[in-house]
Amino acid sequence: MKNIIYDCDPGHDDAMALFEALAHPEEINILGISTVGGNQKLENVTKNAQHILSAAHSKIELASGQSQPLVKEFYPATNAHGDSGMDGHDFPAEDANYPISSLNAVTFLHKKIQSADDLVTIVATGPLTNIALLLKTFPEVKDSIDKIIIMGGGLDHGNITKGAEFNIWTDPEAAKIVFTSGIPMVMAGLDVTERAYFTEDELQELDKKGPISAIAYDLLSYYYKSGKQFGFKNSPVHDLCAMAYLIDPTLFTGHIYSVDVVTDDSEARGMTIADKRKLPENKNSTLVLLEVDRERYRDLFFQAIEKLDQEN
Ligand code: RIB
Ligand code: CA
Repeated sequence: MKNIIYDCDPGHDDAMALFEALAHPEEINILGISTVGGNQKLENVTKNAQHILSAAHSKIELASGQSQPLVKEFYPATNAHGDSGMDGHDFPAEDANYPISSLNAVTFLHKKIQSADDLVTIVATGPLTNIALLLKTFPEVKDSIDKIIIMGGGLDHGNITKGAEFNIWTDPEAAKIVFTSGIPMVMAGLDVTERAYFTEDELQELDKKGPISAIAYDLLSYYYKSGKQFGFKNSPVHDLCAMAYLIDPTLFTGHIYSVDVVTDDSEARGMTIADKRKLPENKNSTLVLLEVDRERYRDLFFQAIEKLDQEN
């Protein structure tokens, strides 16, 4: 059983990652879910988390975290995810009744990690603001964290700028704190996530299959169309890579590097840079995922959605 906390900014692809985690209760013990401002403002991404958890009839505790990056101005990814942050499906208004912890996510995550019966893996698929503040505010928590698996960054290219990926670009200072914390990291960056897509024909398999399939079909169809503006033929489901790695690391191959984040005000701000030199002092603590077995990645997700359909 893997104890995890999931920090996210739903987000069409965050939603798919959450569905996949919820479909594996026999191996993933989700201690708590936290939200962070990113794809949309905090209020919206938290509401979207309530939608997904309500649809899956989950009882997992939810907390909302930081609305703003540590230093930078906040710019949501409205063009990619729409005004709600998860456009494309009409959810019931009563989802707003899904309980939200009275604790801020940083305190909530500290409490959950410290009370866990074993080491905890952090999965994070939004800007790393909550995680950076957790490590800075409660440094002792590092001893209870097994690793941090993120969707973020990219060694070869960016998406929000030529060189920077959105999650890291949104809060580079937070990302630097996390990457240099000494905690083992797994980075599912654009190098691998842009290979982790579903085709239009594959998406059609979700249509009219069940209640969770219907939501996944609507959201992924929206995200698929939205991806066209960025030149994607098939829209990558970025965040799903982080959760799929947790469930089955054999889907991926990669290389361990020492990765740092650019935090200056140059046009390189938010870039993730791997030091590939063989310097003895290099703390090679980040496994950068580079390849994915796309068919097995697809099958893992579709099987998860089918399982949730049967349970809901
Ligand atoms: O660059 C892709 C990332 O930005 C994903 O996490 C997506 O949800 C958005 O947050
Ligand atoms: Ca995300």
